[in-house]
Amino acid sequence: MYYNHKPKFPDGFMWGASSAAWQVEGATLEGGRTQSVIDLNSQTKKPYTDNSIAADHYHRYKEDVNLMVECGFTSYRFSISWSRIIPNAERKLNPEGIAFYNNLINELIAHNITPIVTLYHYDMPCWVEEKYGGWLDRHIIDEFDYYCRVCFEQFGDRVKYWLSINEQNMQICYGDWLGVSKNCTDWFRQKWMINHIMNLCHAKAVIACHELVEDGKIGPVPGYVPIYPESCKPEDQIAAMNAEELTQKIWNDLYAYGEYSEFVKKYWKEHEIDPDIRPGDMELIAQAKIDFFALNCYRSNVAKEAKMGTQYQELGLNKSGRKGEFVYPNYPGEYALAPNPYVQTTDWDWEIDPVAMRYMLRYMNDHYHLPMMITENGYGAHESIAEDGHVHDPKRVDFLRDQIYQIGLAIEDGCDVIAYNLWSFTDLLSTGNGMAKRYGLVYVNTTDEEVLDLRRIPKDSFYWYSRLIKSNGQDWGKEM
Ligand code: BG6
Repeated sequence: MYYNHKPKFPDGFMWGASSAAWQVEGATLEGGRTQSVIDLNSQTKKPYTDNSIAADHYHRYKEDVNLMVECGFTSYRFSISWSRIIPNAERKLNPEGIAFYNNLINELIAHNITPIVTLYHYDMPCWVEEKYGGWLDRHIIDEFDYYCRVCFEQFGDRVKYWLSINEQNMQICYGDWLGVSKNCTDWFRQKWMINHIMNLCHAKAVIACHELVEDGKIGPVPGYVPIYPESCKPEDQIAAMNAEELTQKIWNDLYAYGEYSEFVKKYWKEHEIDPDIRPGDMELIAQAKIDFFALNCYRSNVAKEAKMGTQYQELGLNKSGRKGEFVYPNYPGEYALAPNPYVQTTDWDWEIDPVAMRYMLRYMNDHYHLPMMITENGYGAHESIAEDGHVHDPKRVDFLRDQIYQIGLAIEDGCDVIAYNLWSFTDLLSTGNGMAKRYGLVYVNTTDEEVLDLRRIPKDSFYWYSRLIKSNGQDWGKEM
């Protein structure tokens, strides 16, 4: 990538990183917390370690915040663990859990780091599941509303940026992977009921935030994967549009416009799907006006025509970290995905495509005209400590430099981007690959096989990012 000028980032642009409670905290049964469904899910992903210790952030949050300060962070995006706040069905609050997040928030604010807080990042408490059998029961909407209101009441005096549900679209698209499809007998149809229930949860959170948090702002967190047509064949373009609808646009249209699109209504009709929309639901959804889009973007996709009558093939994620294991899907009559010969890939076959970042920001700006913040973007890799005691991650530096540069270009294009929070600050558990797939600016000394001393070692990318953010996006670390 060649740079011919330095784009300017706005004053007050927030620079930081992201995490999620279940992937970073550990201490899953400490401090009054009870288990969440994703804890159990993480235990089944052998040979990878589970999340009972993770990066041990629960015990080391002060050390972690000190490192954020050293790096120059002005924001930190993290999630609250529902079962740490409300550990059981009696809805009794857990003072130790509340104290943990108060301490973390206070520590951040004391160092001028703006907290950006996700309410739900895949971690439904086991008690909710036991009581209601999972996401299919509409009682969850009230439980979630209660939990969100507790968060706003406890932390809303200091936390002004809130995020509702992390990657609802990905949870619906990859139900098995993220544990949402548990207890479903007809996932193809029931996922749309669950999706509707999640939309109602999201809407309740938006409404409660505006009611309870003075100057509070809230937005959803879609996982965004730009989709390019494989060729200029018109049918490939339509396939790309289908893929876009079925993996992200259906969700974003609802968040922004408060109603289901004609595309999804037609899709339900064609497939005889009843999402169980009840009187009053759409009024509630329409009332929930979001303040911004929080966007997670790592990679891009290529779509091509999938003719009717061709063989159905489900998408297969690369779960091993051995290149070449991703299975490209074929959904007859809708779309197929294909490799992109113009980009490199990670060991998990994720496309390394910085231009996707600019594409996403332009697309979202054109369609929704709302401020945007990046809440995830990063490079997952196998890593270890070098003989000199450091962790050298030049590919991550290249990845981040190229991605952030494209954000700068998007800002020049007119996009209102207010923050960049990469994934992740310390190494933490990947959704399915434990510690084997590391994303951090800071190495955490532990492995899937053995719990080590968990000490923190800032990687080369930490120092590179620090220079960039302390100069508000001017010191790129090499000649431009
Ligand atoms: C995002 C999730 O989709 O991707 C994170 O919000 C996740 O929870 C991240 O960790 C990276 O994915 P993975 O599977 O590599 O951990």
